[in-house]
Order: sequence, then C-alpha cells, then structure tokens
Amino acid sequence: MLEVLRERLGHRSVKDGCSPQGQCGCCTVWVDGAARAACVTPARRVAGRQVTTLEGLAPAVRDPWIRAFTDSGASQCGFCTPGIIMRLAALQSRQPALDEASVKRALSAHLCRCTGWRTILEAARLVADAGSRTGAAGLDSSRKVRDLNAACARAALEGGRAQKVGPATALGEGGFADDAASAGALVAVPDPRGGFCVAESLAEAKGKADKVQGRNTTVALRHPLEVAPGNWALTLRTTFVEPAYLEPDASWCAPGGEPASPLANGGAFGGKASSPVAEAVRSLAEAHGRPVRVLFAREDVTRLGPKRPPIAAGLHEDGSGVIRVARTPGSSDLSRWTEAARSVLPRVEVDEVDVCGPPVSAELRGAGWAEATVLAATLDALRRGCFGTDHPVTVVSPAGARAIACIGADDCIRVRLSAGRPLDEVVLRSYAVGAVHQALGWVRSEGVAVSDGGEVLDLTLRSFGIVTAQAMPPVEVEIERIEKAGTEDAPPVRVSDAVFAAVAAAAWLAGGLKPEWPLERSRRGSTKGDGK
Ligand code: FES
Ligand code: FES
Repeated sequence: MLEVLRERLGHRSVKDGCSPQGQCGCCTVWVDGAARAACVTPARRVAGRQVTTLEGLAPAVRDPWIRAFTDSGASQCGFCTPGIIMRLAALQSRQPALDEASVKRALSAHLCRCTGWRTILEAARLVADAGSRTGAAGLDSSRKVRDLNAACARAALEGGRAQKVGPATALGEGGFADDAASAGALVAVPDPRGGFCVAESLAEAKGKADKVQGRNTTVALRHPLEVAPGNWALTLRTTFVEPAYLEPDASWCAPGGEPASPLANGGAFGGKASSPVAEAVRSLAEAHGRPVRVLFAREDVTRLGPKRPPIAAGLHEDGSGVIRVARTPGSSDLSRWTEAARSVLPRVEVDEVDVCGPPVSAELRGAGWAEATVLAATLDALRRGCFGTDHPVTVVSPAGARAIACIGADDCIRVRLSAGRPLDEVVLRSYAVGAVHQALGWVRSEGVAVSDGGEVLDLTLRSFGIVTAQAMPPVEVEIERIEKAGTEDAPPVRVSDAVFAAVAAAAWLAGGLKPEWPLERSRRGSTKGDGK
C-alpha cells in the first residue's frame, strides 16, 4: 500500500523510513479509521475500504494536531510526524480524553530520532486539553506569538544545517529530496552486486536489485578496540553506533542540473554529511540523459552509511592518556575527530587504528569533541568524588554555550542551559530534549552488531537500541538568559552538543562508570512488551 500511495497516487505525507520492516511508523495511514503501517499492508487487502492519509484527514481533526506539534516543538525534521499524527488522531477518535500512558503505548509503533519524545507527549496533552476545554478552538486562545524566522535560525544553529520550522514541517513538507523529485524521473536503488539498479519505477528498480531484506541478529556487540596497556584511572570502550536518522538518503537530479540535497530538513546531525547519493545521482542523470532519483532503503543506509567510530580510551587522573579510535575501510578522514578530541584533552595521544567494519565518520554530532568532553567531565567528577546519580555535570562548548545536566535517582533528567539569545525557546528546548535522548541511547542502549569480517549484522531500525517513547524518562529543561553588558542577551550559540555531552557523562556516572558502552545492551531502547 505504501508503494501505491506514494509512487502511484503521489501522497507525499506517507513516508518510507524502513519498508518493508514495518518498524518506524512513518508510513502510518488510516484504514477505515484505524491506524495501519502502509508498508506492511498489501494493497489488495484494502480493496473496498477507506484509506486516509494526512492530506485527506478532515481539517477539524488534523489542524489541532499540526498546531500542537508546531507549538510544542514536537517536529524537528518532520519525517516521522505525519505517521505519528495519524496514529494519535486515530487514538483520539476512539478515546477523546487522551492520557499519557495511552499515548506512549500508541507511540510504541513509531520511532523519532530528533525530538526525544517528550515534546510529542506535550503536543498530545495540548490537543487533549484544548478538546476538553473548548473543542479544537481551545488551542488558538492559548497560543503564544512566535517569530518563526527566529525559530528557523535556532533550528539551523542546533541542527547544523538550514531547517524549516512551522506547520509545513509537521505536515511532512520539510523539503525532503524524494518528495520533490521530478515525476518522470528514472529510479535508482543500490544493487547488492555493486552500483545501482535503474528502472522506470521504484517497484521495478527494487525487483531488479532482488535484495533479500536483512534482519537483526542475536550476535553480541563487539568492541573492536582494546584499551592501550596502562594503569588508568578511567577506561572506556564503545562500539559502532548508527546515526539512525529516519529519512533514508535520497536525491534526484536532471541532466546538467544540481542534485537535490540529501540533507533535507536539518541534515540529521551530521549523519548525512558524507552521503554518496548526490554524486551518484548526478552521474546517473548524465549517463541516462534523463532525471533520476536515487533512493536508499533502510537496509542500504545501515550497510553503507557511516557510523560513530568506536573508541578505546585509557586516562590518568591528570587527563593524559591514550584514546584509540577505529578507522575502517571507506571512512572519511578522521583528523577532524582527533583535533576535536585534543582540543578538550590536549595531553592525550589519539591513535587511529585500522579495523574491519562499516565506514565511520568524523561529521556526526560532536564527534571527537563529545567523547573527549565526556571523559574530561567524568575525570573531574571522579576527582571530586562525585559519581552515581544526582551529581550535576557541567559542559561548556568551544562557542561558550553551557549545559548542566543531572540524572536523578528517579531517572528524571534535569538540564539547565545557556545558549545566548534563545531566538525561540520552543525550538531550543526541543533540541535540548532531543540531545538528551540521543545521549541516553549512546550511553545506555545503542550499538550495531558487526561481524569479525566487518559486515553489519543488525539491519533493522529496531535493532539499534534507540530509546523508545515508553523508555524515555522525564526531562526538565531550564533556559538561562545571559545578559551582555546588562542590557541584551549574548549572541545565540549552539548548545545541543553541550547538552549531548553533559547528559552522556551524567548517564555514565549514574550507570556506575562501567567500562563499556552501551551499558545495558539488553535494554535495546525498549521496555518489555514495547513494540515489535
Ligand atoms: S516505512 Fe512503514 S513502518 Fe517504516
Ligand atoms: S522529527 Fe522525528 S525523526 Fe525527525
């Protein structure tokens, strides 16, 4: 049904985040008013039944959700949002008094990489409150006036790439490359034998590729690097971590034209900075003399996309020591990683070590800097005898942004941040919560199993250990205003990387400083009975 809705009928709100895995929820539509994942629903099964996409949802149902998602910062890139809105609107139609437990349960069929779930729960509460007060109009009376240009500027600062904020983003119209592809374009998908399979339609191209979809594995995570010999005060080994952005890499190009940017709405925190699709589509368009779309499936992203490089660190109390970082065939230059790490820990030796594995990248969120910052902050906490829960960790970014993170014994995460002029507090807070979510996953649950020969074995989205809505703890964010010269706020600076590092350090301290991440592989970002 996904193929029919997107490819034949042009419903671009219905997104393909993982088909045919049925694990992300981005393709969720209504079938006779019930939410269904289109990618695992055969089209013939819905013959004679009513299928509704976000485009076709009655405005009285859809608009309050769009407003609530915009007002609470529940949509960043927006790729997951249409599916989530369809799911929650279906829940609301059965149960108008939405409560948090039901919303969390409904979200177990979805994944979001950007927002950290809490803002989505808040959007649901806004809709529920408005409905119980005055019907859908209740949202309007409580809305704050926002400058969406300023909101876009804050999002661009935090995301590292131009970004749209507003109702169009919640509608799934953030500007994804594949949504705007020329109607008559040829379609190209990676050929498992190398190169691309090109055909008139996506179905035909996939048929030519004849790929057997991979599954996840029960193979244990490997930490490919050993800590250098030494009598260290602190050691840490990490594994390959998948960026796991929800929009698979895509681009399109006309002959002689410029490829559409695969960075879409935000660039996936650096995850797509080295995407090969743009160059591939340019040469395919030239070779075929026609516009071409290149599309990765989830499995292609997982096999071919760069991972966060594993490390093995051994540090003395004074901050000297050795950090080994894994370099794999096809990786981008890691000198930026090394420089960033040494900017925080100048007495550390960084060794790039060749290992088998998927490509790794120095472009991912805070790469090198975040690892070194976590190690430095943890050493500092150790020196002060502060470990376990309830100890605040302070991180200051090179640009002067500050984040103080504390994980309580109740697992509630409190973050105080200073980011200069906020520009838009909704977006600023949303990015902070999103950074908390990514940091928790990185420390506690995320990793990709890789064979001894370097082959990626975990190929499904659910296998990466992303923290789910049900497993996500409460987050409190306080935004500090910094007055400059007593009159105006300091210039805006990016703070989410500082939040990411501060929460990672706090989570490691709270988790007992075990020497290997993820601390709780069995957690896999899920709680029992949570989703698929
Ligand atoms: S694309 Fe259907 S669930 Fe992911
Ligand atoms: S907003 Fe959910 S994946 Fe980006």
